[in-house]
This record gives sequence, structure tokens and C-alpha cells, in this order.
Amino acid sequence: MRKGAFHFILGLFCCVACKPEYSNHCNPKENALKERVNFKVGVAVDHDLLGFDLAYEELVQSQFNSLSPENAMKASYIHPASDQFDWYLADRLVNFAENHGMRFHGHTLIWHQQLPEWIENFAGDREQWRALLEQHIKTIVNRYKGRVAAWDVVNEAFVEDGSLRNSIWYQHLGASYIRLAFEYAHEADPDALLFYNDYNLAQNPLKRKAVIRYLEEMKLAGVPIDGIGCQFHINIHFPEVSDLNKCMEEVCQAGFKLHISELDIALNPFSRSMPQPKEADLKRQADRYLAVFKAFDRQPNLLKYGITMWGLSDADSWIPSYFNREDYPLLFDGNYQAKAAYCKLIESL
Ligand code: XIL
Repeated sequence: MRKGAFHFILGLFCCVACKPEYSNHCNPKENALKERVNFKVGVAVDHDLLGFDLAYEELVQSQFNSLSPENAMKASYIHPASDQFDWYLADRLVNFAENHGMRFHGHTLIWHQQLPEWIENFAGDREQWRALLEQHIKTIVNRYKGRVAAWDVVNEAFVEDGSLRNSIWYQHLGASYIRLAFEYAHEADPDALLFYNDYNLAQNPLKRKAVIRYLEEMKLAGVPIDGIGCQFHINIHFPEVSDLNKCMEEVCQAGFKLHISELDIALNPFSRSMPQPKEADLKRQADRYLAVFKAFDRQPNLLKYGITMWGLSDADSWIPSYFNREDYPLLFDGNYQAKAAYCKLIESL
């Protein structure tokens, strides 16, 4: 075969089979998302990857300057028995953040999910539940005092109609558990910023308004609450960018610090078969990521706590396993290569 023909065939083969070669303008090895913006960009990390996968760690620390534990600080992991705390996983993540000069965002103290069995089955009276709540919060916050910058103190306490969720905490302590949780966290570390965190706040104005009103009243009554985490598990179709904007604006207008705390933009909300992402969807996803970053950047500087991605790559996103579908919601693909969304942010921010 002539040399020219050989190269032509090799070229054709590479177009189809080789990993995409990203030009330097968006090659993560030559760029850093965290340097493109004047606020913190974070990522929720998987404790099974951080510490075990060097490429994962390299990408985490080169692109982000804030870190959230995806699971390691949830009650089932960190407080497995009433008289036993297991710090191993959380310590590793906090140490990693410290060693790389990253802010650490604690997630999450009080939630109705991922509870250990001993809490699910706890048979105490109201006073014993209060004591449990206090011990849980104070022990954890105290251990990381001065090292964890902020906590999601209460997660997902509201339901879609704007009323309080009938969670295990609510059942045993009534609405007062929310106030108590913030007070105990503040007593343990007066310097930590304290957040309320929830989902569907952009999608559902009824829920958003109820949450903001409730937290405003608590704040007026002197409860130490600094900010609101809007999770932003969104997709390429829904909600409208104008609703994302509205959500951010209303949180800031109420004087709360704003955290886009769990950002991912799914491609496949209707659970179709999707062995590969479509080009057009990846472009739409890129536009949506840019819209979120730009809208966030327009908020008052003092209230911009940051944007946190809920996972690093499509291979470690919670969405495919949790919702049992193929999906590609994050900035990097399963080989830690930049997707169109990452390139768009690097090019346009
Ligand atoms: C998810 C984790 O990503 C999964 O690994 C875990 O199995 C379930 O929880 N809202 C939250 C996060 O506040 O803690 C959840 O994280 C996603 C929804």
C-alpha cells in the first residue's frame, strides 16, 4: 500500500475510534474552571474514588476550589451506632481539601434519608430525640470546627406543596427540629456558615416561596442561618432559564447567601434508551451550563457562595444508578475528557 493511502486509512480509523483530541483551549490539563470565575466552584466527591484514582484526584484539584462529600458525612456513614462515630471517610476528604487549598462544604447534618438503622428504629421520647439531634450535630460540627467552612444543616425539609415534610425528625420533634438544628450547629462552630438545602426550588415556585418565607421568619427571630442551597438537579429541557434566574434572584433578594449546591444537567429525563449522548443534546447541555454560571455571576458578590457540581464525570454521577437510566449529566465524560459543556464554560466565562 502507498504511504499516502495508509495515512488516509489511519486518519479515517482515528476519526471513528480514537478518543477525541481536545484543542488546548478546553483541554482540562491546560485549563482550570476555577480560574475562570470570581466565585468558588465545587464538586461533590465520591469517597471510593478520591484516594484511589489518581486521574480523578488530579481533575478534582485542578478544576475546583471547593469540595462537598457526596455521601461520607451522611448519618449512615458517619454515625453508624448511637455511641459510635466513624470519621475515616470524612477525615480523608477534609484532609484532601486542606492539602489542596480547597474550601470544604459539609453535607449534610439533618436529612430524612441515608439514616443508620439505629436512628430509624430509635424509640426515645421527645427529649431523647432532641438529645440525639444535639449530640449528632454538635459532635460532627465540633470535630471539623475551623476546617469545614459551611454546613448543609437541614436538607429537604419541605415537600412540593410548600408544607413541611413529615420526616422522622418532624414526627418526633415537630417543626422545632429545624430551628434546633441551626442553633446546635452554630453553638458548635460559630464561624461556620449555615445553609438550608433543597431541590426543585427553581422548578416549583410554590415550594421556593414557602421555603424562603419560612427561613426569612426564622432569621428574623434570630436563628443563625446564612444561606440557601438550591440543588439544581435539572435537565436540558426543564426548567426554563428564566425560572433558574428567578430562583437565584429571590434567594438573594431575601438576603441569603446562594449556593447552587448539587448542579447536574441531565440529558435523558424521560428514561429512553441512550447508549450514546446525542451531539445536539450535548450542545444544549453546554448552553444550559453557561446560562447557570452567567446567571449566578450576576448575583451580588457578597451573596455568591458558589456553584457545586454533583459529581465529577458521567461515570460517577448518581443519576444513572439512582434513576436506573443511561444519562450524561456532568462536565467530563467517563474517561475524564472534557465535554462540550466544559469547553463552553472555559471559552465563554
Ligand atoms: C445522593 C448521592 O449522590 C448518591 O450517591 C446516594 O446514593 C443518594 O444520595 N439530594 C441530596 C444528595 O441532597 O445528598 C443526594 O446525593 C442527591 C439528592
